[in-house]
Formats: sequence, structure tokens, C-alpha cells
Amino acid sequence: MLTIDKELCIHCGTCVEECSFGCLKIEDEVVKYDDRRCITCGHCLAVCPKDAIMIDGDGYDVEEVQEFQFIESTPVALVRRDIMMRRSVRSFNDEPVEDSKLDLIVEAAKYAPTAKNCQKNALKVITDPDEADQLLVDLMEQIGEIGKEKMRDNPAIAAFFLEKYREFNEEKVDGLFYGAPVIILVFSHSDIDGAICAATMGQMIEATDLGFCYVLLAAEPMNTPQMRQKYNVPDDMHCVIAMAVGHYDAEYFCSVPRKDVPLL
Ligand SMILES: Cc1cc2nc3c(=O)[nH]c(=O)nc-3n(C[C@H](O)[C@H](O)[C@H](O)COP(=O)(O)O)c2cc1C
Repeated sequence: MLTIDKELCIHCGTCVEECSFGCLKIEDEVVKYDDRRCITCGHCLAVCPKDAIMIDGDGYDVEEVQEFQFIESTPVALVRRDIMMRRSVRSFNDEPVEDSKLDLIVEAAKYAPTAKNCQKNALKVITDPDEADQLLVDLMEQIGEIGKEKMRDNPAIAAFFLEKYREFNEEKVDGLFYGAPVIILVFSHSDIDGAICAATMGQMIEATDLGFCYVLLAAEPMNTPQMRQKYNVPDDMHCVIAMAVGHYDAEYFCSVPRKDVPLL
């Protein structure tokens, strides 16, 4: 349950800007919350400079939220801070991503563990804006087609895909990669190896002071026969996930609450 403390809130609009799902808006100098598209990611709470937003109940405990700047710099504390303070970045600034950082990220992929050490992962790293634009156009085209195909069997997913397609074509909204300067497509023979590869790169992305968002939504349209052919995807591989990567301006002041993982 998300609540906004009206006494503490200075209606600065930072949370409204941060919310990628349009759940918050300012009306008459009051922040209004609409829970219909909210996934309780907690970004609003983490960017609030006045600590005015809370998520509590339903398995969440607001007491667990931490501010990390005062934590002593032991390795465990730093790793814990990086894990808890990582946020999915969906708004990137214009600063180009340094080649030296990209090299480190790609190197991290190389050292990711793979089952039987088979090392059957591959990456497509897109930094050229024209190439990124073309990829987005191609993927959105596929998203439109997949949306139409799913209408009978899965109307809810179909509506989601078709809305992404409509937003892109009518409003030029990039609802896939959020205008990120770097797109990484992760290919593998195995979903698990590919996901671990992505997570390993994610660690390095964080360590190099960049931000990223996993984009699973890109995988299905990337794996259609047309896209596989156009982008020369090897026969024994498929796109497991994409990552949108870049510099960002948002400042996160604290961690966000998460439900306990059940210990079975
Ligand atoms: C496997 C996976 C796939 C995801 N796919 C998408 C996606 O396609 N688009 C997107 O905007 N976010 C995507 N996300 C980001 C989640 O929505 C995000 O992790 C969640 O909102 C929690 O926010 P946080 O990462 O900032 O803690 C994905 C995350 C994971 C782990």
C-alpha cells in the first residue's frame, strides 16, 4: 500500500517524473496517486527528497528501507548497498557511454559462469543511434504483429503489446529502451546462461556508475523468424533478454521495500 504524507510532501514533482507508469500526478499542489498501473517498484519513495512516500502492508515493511550514505565501507556493506540501491533506470541523459566502460561490461559477460562452462552466449551491443532507431522500428513492428496474433488467446497481453505499438507510432514513445544510448541484446542457447550473463554485466554496469533496465519485452519480438534472419542470429541461439544502458540523472536516496523471500 503506497501512501503520501501530505505534511512532508513539498509537491516538487520528482516522484511524478520518476514514475514510468504514470501513477502519480500533481493536482492543486497535491500529489495524487492512481494505483491501477502501479507495480510497487518503490522508485517514487527512493527519489523523494522529503521521505514523504511509504509502502507498507501486503508483505512490505517500511522499517527495512535504508539510507546508505552513512554505511561504513566494508566490502560486504558495499555489495549490499549496490544490491539494494540498484534501480531499473528508464530515463537516460545525453552523456555518451565511455568505450572503456563498455569494454568492462563486455568483459564481465565473458567471465559469467555458464553450465558445463559451455560459454555459448553472444551479445549485440548497439551504440550507433541510427542502428538503435532501426532496431526499435523493427521490434515495434513485430510487437504490433505479436499483439494482433495474441488477441484471441491472450487479450490482456495483446492489449499491452498493441498499446506499446500505438504509443510508438502515434506519440513516438520509446517504451522498449527508453531512449538509452546503449542497447545490449543478450543471446544464448540457454535462458539460464543468458540471464546469468545479463546479471553479471549488470553488476559491472552498476560499478561503472551507469544505470540499466532489463528489457524482457524485447526478447519475443527479437526471436521472430524475420528478426532472426535480419540480425543474423545463430541457429542455436535466441535472444534471452535485452538491456538498456546509459547515464542517468535521478538520485535515489534510499532503498525500497521488498517482500521477504519465503524460505521453504
Ligand atoms: C527478467 C526481467 C525482465 C524485465 N523486463 C522489463 C521490461 O521489459 N521493461 C521494463 O521497463 N522493465 C523490465 N524489468 C524491470 C522490472 O520491471 C523492475 O525490476 C521492477 O520494476 C522493480 O524495479 P527495480 O528494478 O528498480 O527494483 C525487468 C526486470 C527483470 C528482472
